Amino acid sequence: MSDQFVLRIFRGDQNGGEEREYYVPAIPGMVVLDAVHYVQAHDAPDLAVRWNCKAAHCGSCSAEINGMPKLMCKTRLDDYQGQVVHIQPMRTFPIIKDLVTDVSWNYEVAKKIPTFHPETAAPFRMQQWDVDRIQEFHHCIECFLCQDVCHVLRDHHAQDEYFGPRFMVKMAEFEMHPADRADRIPQLKNEAGIGMCNVTKCCTEVCPQHIHITDNAIIPLKERVADRYYDPIRSFFRRLGKKDESSQSVPTKG
Ligand code: SF4
Ligand code: SF4
Ligand code: FES
Repeated sequence: MSDQFVLRIFRGDQNGGEEREYYVPAIPGMVVLDAVHYVQAHDAPDLAVRWNCKAAHCGSCSAEINGMPKLMCKTRLDDYQGQVVHIQPMRTFPIIKDLVTDVSWNYEVAKKIPTFHPETAAPFRMQQWDVDRIQEFHHCIECFLCQDVCHVLRDHHAQDEYFGPRFMVKMAEFEMHPADRADRIPQLKNEAGIGMCNVTKCCTEVCPQHIHITDNAIIPLKERVADRYYDPIRSFFRRLGKKDESSQSVPTKG
């Protein structure tokens, strides 16, 4: 094992910047965030980096390491043995400084989604199957790595047309709750833009919580939208001008 790693860290802000090279001693068990902190402590005290838990729980230390969106605190440095380690801020979001980006757009999207809306405030019982199905979605730590990698947001800059995979997970969490009575299907089709997702599964590949974003959230939601709007029988009745029961505000829970 080499006795040091070469890091090339982006330094700059919204006006531009460049990678700068730093050298970090190889210490067993070191993660990329440790290396960035070493650089801060020894060479660049003004290096901006966002972090909090250092335990893969807060979702703060998202960055791109050798081109892959990752949590810096969950990525071992010795995975990059023999390579230069390039550390860049998430490309999908506006840069603030160095490795820190402005992710506030995500919080604005979150405000648009109707929250859990039970029929009554009374306690309810849930089948274990329903608990298991939505439990996976509760593991999201809002690191926004899935938003960063999604080509609809990253390359096509379609933030006005698609909420992104993190919020498909959020909407699935509510929609699949058996006690929830809000109707998010029209929003999914229109404002949230679920049709923009072409199921490449890149989001699932980068999720540090191993949430099956496409298979368990996006595809079932796409099916609900298709049932509502593209089912030929419902379409036939709509053309006849008859009331479509699916247009009522309480959707059937699947
Ligand atoms: S599967 Fe859909 S949401 Fe996920 S990265 Fe691909 S286009 Fe984006
Ligand atoms: S779904 Fe996964 S990748 Fe996306 S924000 Fe949540 S934890 Fe991060
Ligand atoms: S510092 Fe909290 S997830 Fe990395």
